Amino acid sequence: MSNYHIKGLEEYFQVYRKSVNHPEQFWEEIAEENFVWRKRWDKVLQWDFAKPEVNWFQGAQLNITENCLDRHLYTRGNQTAIIFEPNDPKEAAQHITYNDLHERVCKFANVLKDKGIQRGDRVCIYLPMIPELAAAMLACARIGAIHSIVFAGFSSTALRSRIQDSECKMLITSDGSYRGGKTIDLKGIADEALQDAPSIESVLVVKRIKSDITMKEGRDVWLQPLLDKASIHCDPEIMNAEDPLFILYTSGSTGQPKGMLHTTAGYMIYAAYTFKNVFQYRQNDIYWCSADIGWITGHSYIIYGPLANGATTVLFEGVPSYPDYGRFWQVVEKHKVTQFYTAPTAIRALAKENLSHVQKHDLSTLKVLGTVGEPINEEAWHWYNENIGGKNAPIADTWFQTETGGIMISPIPFATPTIPTFATLPLPGVQLALMDEDGKEIKGNQVSGRLTIKFPWPGMARSIWGNHERYRSTYFSTFENHYFTGDGALRDATGYYRITGRVDDVIIVSGHNLGTAPIEDAINEHPAVAESAIVGFPHDVKGNSLYGFVILKEAGESRDNNNLRKEINQLIAERIGPIAKLEKIQFTPGLPKTRSGKIMRRILRKVAAGELHDLGDISTLLNPEVVESIIENRL
Ligand code: WT7
Repeated sequence: MSNYHIKGLEEYFQVYRKSVNHPEQFWEEIAEENFVWRKRWDKVLQWDFAKPEVNWFQGAQLNITENCLDRHLYTRGNQTAIIFEPNDPKEAAQHITYNDLHERVCKFANVLKDKGIQRGDRVCIYLPMIPELAAAMLACARIGAIHSIVFAGFSSTALRSRIQDSECKMLITSDGSYRGGKTIDLKGIADEALQDAPSIESVLVVKRIKSDITMKEGRDVWLQPLLDKASIHCDPEIMNAEDPLFILYTSGSTGQPKGMLHTTAGYMIYAAYTFKNVFQYRQNDIYWCSADIGWITGHSYIIYGPLANGATTVLFEGVPSYPDYGRFWQVVEKHKVTQFYTAPTAIRALAKENLSHVQKHDLSTLKVLGTVGEPINEEAWHWYNENIGGKNAPIADTWFQTETGGIMISPIPFATPTIPTFATLPLPGVQLALMDEDGKEIKGNQVSGRLTIKFPWPGMARSIWGNHERYRSTYFSTFENHYFTGDGALRDATGYYRITGRVDDVIIVSGHNLGTAPIEDAINEHPAVAESAIVGFPHDVKGNSLYGFVILKEAGESRDNNNLRKEINQLIAERIGPIAKLEKIQFTPGLPKTRSGKIMRRILRKVAAGELHDLGDISTLLNPEVVESIIENRL
């Protein structure tokens, strides 16, 4: 039996039991046998969910890049670490070996040091999916700086607030980015963000689209000339197990995005362990995750998990629709991809296109498929299984969160029998509990409730940057001594889990996690708007779309004002990003409220979804009359 690489169902159950009965021994053996350490730990685990405080491998010292790069140089220095597939299929792919990547990272790390970046400093990275993004994050890790990667689709306002929140000292960006047939002025967006970001001392600019941009004297520098001069030697900074590795922002149901803080040893072990098992990665496989590195999926399953296992990982700059809808499958064929990991929204979008886009490509190398980000509907699951996997590649429906660092619930391909729409079973080390609304655990099978986790796992976030109290109250106060996920789930008769969706005010649109509050704040900035509420409603490609109910300051004004709608969406795009735009905007004289003044979103959700027959009890509303008007003017 191997704890590290599970190959059968019986083995899974054995390993799982061990991970629950002897968690410290379980993780200790994995840590000992599969990673390199500069100093051994004194204690495997120390924890208290009430505080909350969680320490894994206290006393140990290591550097994650030594585990992801240096140690592979002896065994596979000339093996490809990263295959870079550019946006434009006519541009040549790059095969970056472990030797090359090590050199690039060391040079980049020396540039950071030259620019005054030290251990513990925060570095914001706002880059498209190019090799420099991988090198930048690893260079930070090399010298103990904390990276904060901001998805390059976010707006200047979103970028600015993230830089401000963690007081980043440096920004790494590019002169622009390619997105299908378009180019995006990333540097322009960054400049706007930096108008009010006093912590930033310097900006490194990667040349990607060779566009004319303005460089601010004394602040902005081109990266390449600095790399050309940099030494290829850079000793890794020796980090403590619980030193911060990165901050990654995620939306909450209220307030500013939360800077989830991940630390070094536990995150590394968890990302590596889950990667190995969920994708059943073996030597010579070519693994591709189509997510952006700006999300946790990219951090853990494009970079850290694969590289810690000495894998070959594809880094794809493009989009599924360019130059045509066969692009994903063309890349699979071209690089002989063996594991492919994507989001349900991408599958649904591609399933709508002509099947010839799939059929003209040879997908026979695929052994394992994965999905993540939202519940996968049955139709999309079957399409993926039949047309992409040829009914021959198990689908890992993986559930996790920015906060969990790595995959928590997933089938283990070739071991766990899959059922469409079920994420199936918890991975070893993951102790789930379903809770009822009174805070009691619901035991037994064929039950549903709120999904919580009752024991620490190494990959969990340790805090919210600068606000530990918010971390406690968001995740550890709803259910005593449990981490609350914000999701609902059901457990079927055999113990399989199915995630039923968010139970809070987070809406997942095309796999992007959007909080209602920041979007409402953006809408309310419009001078004509008095108040607003947004809800999600089902959409056949995006999973959910956004529906806004907006009260105007002057009643009767512009009831069908499409310009106003455009302006509101423009404001949202500027404040958050185009992904948060509303599909429908209904102007309304009022919003249904409880007597304590809380908006009854349940009713708005039903109206948006067109489920008008069963609005539930509205008699407790402060203003029941407004419901009729909302229904009447429904879009
Ligand atoms: C939320 C976390 C995890 C990386 C991408 C999203 C939803 C995620 C699944 C799945 C059903 C899923 C949950 C979760 N979610 N995976 N396989 N089935 N729902 O990370 O932005 O932190 O979002 O995504 O609602 O809480 P995130």
